[in-house]
Amino acid sequence: MIRRHPQIDGQGRLRHLLSIDGLPKAMIERVLDTASAFLDVSDRTVKKLPLLRGRSVFNLFFENSTRTRTTFEIAAQRLSADVFNLNISASSASKGESLLDTIDNLAAMNADLFVVRHAQSGAPFLIAQHLDQLGKDVHVINAGDGRHEHPTQALLDAYTIRHFKKNFTGLRIALVGDILHSRVARSNIHALTTLGVPDVRAVGPATLLPGGLESMGVRVFHDMREGLRDVDVVIMLRLQNERMRGALLPSAQEYFKHYGLTPEKLAYAAPDAIVMHPGPMNRGVEIDSAVADGPQAVILSQVTFGIAVRMAVLGMIAA
Ligand code: NCD
Repeated sequence: MIRRHPQIDGQGRLRHLLSIDGLPKAMIERVLDTASAFLDVSDRTVKKLPLLRGRSVFNLFFENSTRTRTTFEIAAQRLSADVFNLNISASSASKGESLLDTIDNLAAMNADLFVVRHAQSGAPFLIAQHLDQLGKDVHVINAGDGRHEHPTQALLDAYTIRHFKKNFTGLRIALVGDILHSRVARSNIHALTTLGVPDVRAVGPATLLPGGLESMGVRVFHDMREGLRDVDVVIMLRLQNERMRGALLPSAQEYFKHYGLTPEKLAYAAPDAIVMHPGPMNRGVEIDSAVADGPQAVILSQVTFGIAVRMAVLGMIAA
């Protein structure tokens, strides 16, 4: 169980972004609206705004990442912040220094904001609580913690859905695959239900679906064709082999047969359904190349929107 830590301060401002769970609808909408305003900046010849000039953003990725780390770096630079990427594998963490000692040292370098990815669920909460207890004015953004949450991914997914579908209130959305190990799925379920999506579905084999989905307002399907019927949005998830203990699956081929998104299975969704994937994508395991590269895929738009959404979060927190 992750201990909750307040994300919003006494003035109603976003102080940290640790989870979508507990974030009010109005705050989510404010991120999406702010991101819209920032989207244009990326199309200009001069792609910079002075909002975070002089501020120091530290990227602390204790776990690998390509898209998330790079787009946070781009977002912070477009707001004129100074960005420091810590090479964790070569840092003192590998020499046995505790997480909070590393944080104390970086805070002593006058960091203003930490973007944290960690394999341990709850690590960003622990860091935020520690900094607040010390009375430090340092903000924490969760960039993915274990199987728990990945709030900026859910916000950029919500942004992408709103961009293509205009509003949330009439939508059917299916999350397909390894929901059990997916922080993206957990954050998305909280975001989509909070934004008023009336039909959120989880599709996958029983071994990869966590208990308690129904109590989160989600409909569960084991048959993919049934689960995809008439949906407006399909969110495919990667098989998180690195988080699986023991054999939860027969084989990648068998998985693809039942849960791989092929043009034939996608035909069960609404004709104008969009296909999303947070990446990294495993072609031939959860998604067929014909779909990944097809006209309904908006997977690369998600990446582009991710920069504007991360600019919005950084700006709202630290400006
Ligand atoms: C996801 C993650 O790391 O949680 N990827 C991402 O941030 N773009 C999903 C995954 O690893 O499958």
